[in-house]
Amino acid sequence: MTSIPRDAWPDVTLPLLADPYRYIQRRAGRLGTDTFRSRLLGQPTIFLTGPEAAAFFYEPGRFHRQKAIPELVAHVLFGEGGVQRLDGEPHRHRKAQWRDLLAGGALDDLESVTERMWDDALPELEAMSSMDVFPQTARVLTASVCRWAGVPLARHLIGGITDMLSSLFLHAGSVGPEHLKGRQNRKAATEWAQRLVQGARSAEAAGRMDKVARIARWSADDGAPLPEAAAATEVLNLLRPTVAVAVYLAFLAMALHRHPENRVRVAEDAAFRRAFVQEVRRTYPFFPAVAARTTGPTEWRGEEVATDTRAVLDLYGTSRHPLAWDRPEEFRPERFLDWPGDQWSLVPQGGGDAAVTHRCPGEDATIRLMCLFAREFARARYEVTTPEAEPNYRAAPALPKGGFQLSGFRAG
Ligand code: HEM
Repeated sequence: MTSIPRDAWPDVTLPLLADPYRYIQRRAGRLGTDTFRSRLLGQPTIFLTGPEAAAFFYEPGRFHRQKAIPELVAHVLFGEGGVQRLDGEPHRHRKAQWRDLLAGGALDDLESVTERMWDDALPELEAMSSMDVFPQTARVLTASVCRWAGVPLARHLIGGITDMLSSLFLHAGSVGPEHLKGRQNRKAATEWAQRLVQGARSAEAAGRMDKVARIARWSADDGAPLPEAAAATEVLNLLRPTVAVAVYLAFLAMALHRHPENRVRVAEDAAFRRAFVQEVRRTYPFFPAVAARTTGPTEWRGEEVATDTRAVLDLYGTSRHPLAWDRPEEFRPERFLDWPGDQWSLVPQGGGDAAVTHRCPGEDATIRLMCLFAREFARARYEVTTPEAEPNYRAAPALPKGGFQLSGFRAG
């Protein structure tokens, strides 16, 4: 590969919106490349897919995140002052605080709190004539992450807080009234999180060691305390994506239904369960892509790419790229039983070393939570009342229209 071809479309905004998960890989495949040029929202953009392109995209210093995605989307999804929009030393400093927050026994605690909250929710779930996996597990995860993080949450408020946090990832990319809902919820969520930070910074909170209190004490790279709004954004960066794990739980339930031959091993064998969860993360659509801009002129595939060119890395396609995966379209958890692991081929939550790149710091938490629910779902008895449900490949996240519904749920 010595040059970067152009897409036949001068601007791919419309075809990409029509097929956000598959457009880049399909087009790159047709052009016989892992990189092509076009425009996105009128601006010159290079589109990247596959492990080599992922390594290029995440090379430190080559790209920055300022103005990489439309401000309307970034505002609802990320908020203001959070780690997602930092680069260089400020980013590394914040990322180290994220690593400390989730280290030690933090994930063991999250897992045991979630197990308790799941047990508490079971009588209500078992009494339901129909249980939709995403909203119901999102409620359990909201209750769990709030308890774990030190956010007081009365039982009658769980539904409202779940809706508010879910709206930040369900409606960020929508248009019209749905987008407006996302904006309103971002405002409400930020005000709520700011009150949590104020509480954690008050004199009475001295000595508090919960997650919110620790974030409230985070500093910027110059040593100054984080502005209250930035700390609030980071509190939401902890709560919102943990609730978003429920999207994966809907796909997990779908995968168990599609591949029932795996059920017994998922129920009984922890190593296989983890492999199954990895295969769900590899094959089901969540974030289609991530975007950045070149910090200076850079060279790739034998061509110069100008300063401030936008680059879009295809996360979904890279995780199913034929260069990295044998028979990538097949759902085969066994492929992960002896997987040595690498930073560029399984990238549903970003690539590279999370301490350095923008890769998700919550990946281990995601896997732990998915394994817990995989065990619970595989051991439970229920009927699937929406057996034809498919991911909605036109939406991000790609939750099936009409949900994934179970009836007669009985824990195992
Ligand atoms: C639902 C499962 C999750 C998915 C699909 C997911 C996906 C992602 C993706 C694609 C990125 C951006 C990577 C990039 O920009 O290069 C990211 C970043 C991030 N995620 Fe997650 N994530 C999930 C769960 C979590 C959890 C549970 C947490 C917190 C405990 C979390 C916290 C973050 C933060 C703080 C960032 C920004 C990191 C940075 O900019 O350096 N995520 N995630």
